[in-house]
Amino acid sequence: MKKTPKFYYLSNFLQVANNKAAAIGLAIIFTIIAMNTSLAQSKRHQAIGNLTTFKQTETGLLLETEQGQMQITVYAADIIRIRAVQTKFDTDFSYAVSNPPQKTKFEVTDETEKLTLRTDFIRLEVSKKPVRLKFMDKDGEVLNEDESYGTGWIGEQVTTYKKLQRYERFIGLGAKIGNLDKRGESYVNWNTDAFMYNSQTDPLYSSFPFFIGVLQKNEYGIFFDNTHKTTFNFGASNNSFASFSAESGEMNYYFIHNQSVRKIIESYTNLTGRMTLPPLWSLGFQQCRYSYFPDKEVLSIAKNFRERKIPIDVLYLDIHYMDNYKVFTWHPTGFAKPQEMLTELKNMGINVVVIIDPGIKEEKGYKAYEDGLKEDVFLKYPDGKPYTGAVWAGWSHFPDFTKPKTRTWWGKQFSGYVHDGITGFWNDMNEPSTWGQRMPDLVEFDYEGQPTSHRQGRNVFGMQMARSTYEGTRKLMNGKRPFILTRAGYSGVQRYSAMWTGDDTATDENMLLNVRMVNGLGLSGMQFVSYDIGGFINEPTKALFARWLTVGTFSPFMRVHTMYDNKSQEPWSFGESITNISRKFIQLRYNLLPYIYSNFYAATQTGLPIQRSMAIDYAHDITIYETRFQNQYFFGDHLLIAPCESTQKFAKVYLPDTKDAWYHFYNDKRYAKGEVIVDADLAQLPIFVKAGAILPTQSDIQSTKEVGDKTLYLHVYAAENSQDSTEFVYYEDDGNTYGHEKGEFYKRKITYRHKEKEIVFGKVEGTFVSKFEKVEVVLHGFYNLNSAFCIQNGKDFDANLRKFNKTTLQMVESYVQTANFELTNTPVVLYVREK
Ligand code: GLC
Repeated sequence: MKKTPKFYYLSNFLQVANNKAAAIGLAIIFTIIAMNTSLAQSKRHQAIGNLTTFKQTETGLLLETEQGQMQITVYAADIIRIRAVQTKFDTDFSYAVSNPPQKTKFEVTDETEKLTLRTDFIRLEVSKKPVRLKFMDKDGEVLNEDESYGTGWIGEQVTTYKKLQRYERFIGLGAKIGNLDKRGESYVNWNTDAFMYNSQTDPLYSSFPFFIGVLQKNEYGIFFDNTHKTTFNFGASNNSFASFSAESGEMNYYFIHNQSVRKIIESYTNLTGRMTLPPLWSLGFQQCRYSYFPDKEVLSIAKNFRERKIPIDVLYLDIHYMDNYKVFTWHPTGFAKPQEMLTELKNMGINVVVIIDPGIKEEKGYKAYEDGLKEDVFLKYPDGKPYTGAVWAGWSHFPDFTKPKTRTWWGKQFSGYVHDGITGFWNDMNEPSTWGQRMPDLVEFDYEGQPTSHRQGRNVFGMQMARSTYEGTRKLMNGKRPFILTRAGYSGVQRYSAMWTGDDTATDENMLLNVRMVNGLGLSGMQFVSYDIGGFINEPTKALFARWLTVGTFSPFMRVHTMYDNKSQEPWSFGESITNISRKFIQLRYNLLPYIYSNFYAATQTGLPIQRSMAIDYAHDITIYETRFQNQYFFGDHLLIAPCESTQKFAKVYLPDTKDAWYHFYNDKRYAKGEVIVDADLAQLPIFVKAGAILPTQSDIQSTKEVGDKTLYLHVYAAENSQDSTEFVYYEDDGNTYGHEKGEFYKRKITYRHKEKEIVFGKVEGTFVSKFEKVEVVLHGFYNLNSAFCIQNGKDFDANLRKFNKTTLQMVESYVQTANFELTNTPVVLYVREK
């Protein structure tokens, strides 16, 4: 409790009392009354109260109020952090935030009624009686303002109430069920093994307590960095406020405002960090099942892919590859010679990812168990005994990943697998999941030397497990990039790992829900995400498998996975026509890898996701929020994907305004903005290309280890009605090491100036030599073109215009032309017009 006027009266009274005994007696009576009163008060909402004093600090303001304290920190011109407590602030520590505040200029003015703090982007008014916050843009437009209850407490629970604005929408919050616009809903963050989740299930596996509020013209973001169970209410069961609250701990949120949703994501990921470049092989096709067993089956699956000419880069080993589900072991007979199997797969161009759960089986003689006990790395009960919970392997202990020593210990456990040739690690069951699904709250977490209970530790367990796996394997892999996949996580986990959305179900509804969840994760800084294609639980119809696979072609990574008692779910398991569709789309994914990889590079620089909700670029276009269009998304800047149900023969697609047009992916037909109805045959998932698009692609390959015909096919889509230009940063490196951190990359900006009909290949940056020797520019929609020429180093030469009726994408059956020339490192301009 903070000092209240009651205590002042009590101490004044005691100062004047001469009789010591009477004073003590009275003190006891008053204290009991005060305690009772405060207990009674804490059962009701207690707001932070009026301002008593304040102080301007180097980074913001420190406020004392009747019921607490508030710290306001200018984190950057577009980010203001608010902390509030009733008593005193905790040590300032965050698992999510990876960057310190930037030195930013700001001004504070003190008026009778309010304090005003101004940065170049945000104006924050703090009313004094009571303390309430009002965030505005620099022109004074209200972005977000405290509701009359402001920030307050009910017991330990802390909540901030914000006025629900008339045209306000809420997007983001990671992987959550429901609509793109989450207004009217409420969600809980409490990492949960949500087996067989459906469109009513909450909470799910991960916690991203970050959302973006979209107003009529403006937008803002709020990141509530508190790892306890948190609840977000976007106007559910009430009509006046949106709120966010935590079971315990501090009110601690970052308010972000910038010019667009893009910029807000950029700022949020500047705060919580961005992904690093994944190994290129992890962007190829991935096949998984629970479980391929034994080694012979794994090899036979690999051979099948190669024989059927279906490209693949990754096979997974699920829990049966281990000895009795004990992590860091191999099954003694099923996988008796893992190195031989792995070498054979490697020779076929296939990488292997193994599942690693956190539970360490309690078993005498089991190395990880004995060693873990000795090193004292497990989660404990308050009396120091390791916590025991049951998972696949039976009764197990769980590493305390919030303890630095455990993370180092865990990282070292991978040396055997890395030595055997494993390059990918799949962290599952890390909510953590234990049979009964009720880890006791008294279990203790080290929390970086500030011991706490399960209540605060749970939500970061998965993230810290992924971190330990990433840091450990990166160290062991001799400069090669590991691929890490996690199920659970918390904001910031994007720095360490990819994520999948857990145990989905083979229904159309669940497929589309998963598409939206990946879109939501992308809005929340988590770029490397996907779902189990085909559905993990139950078996998909042929049509659903095909539809899901074609949609999954355009997700950040592409993995088929299924449950142990389901029929086979390889691309050839559903008959010839589905095999052909699968092959075509998987091949298309490989054709698009230069585009995809460049987008991954962009994600590492800006935090923008690869799979982007339409709200990223069209937040103020109300049509995108309609339920019939809310599953649409962009894959990179230029491809619009419109997922639809497997039973649909036609689909309604909404094409937003581009200042020019859209091209149908399959036939190059031009479409104006608005609603269109197109064929949605299983072999033709509706896809549109933005006019002005630049799509680098490559020839057919079977794995990312192949180089193909060494030609970069650059598809450019005419935007002749627009005055603008399109830019694409083409990026390439060895795809496997960290050499790019030392400048070993090949990067060049490609600019298409629409009106001038010029395609400019900028100067090459970096020391890497591109695997492509030639470029062939594939010109879509450039009608009546008779010649094209290039200028390089002041000299001009013919660009060899050729006519085709099919391009390397093998999907477009329309008439196109290509301009083909040698690509050198100095700038080249291609003129797609007469000399
Ligand atoms: C969990 C995972 C699933 C995996 C299974 C067995 O259900 O979510 O992907 O196959 O455990 O390890």
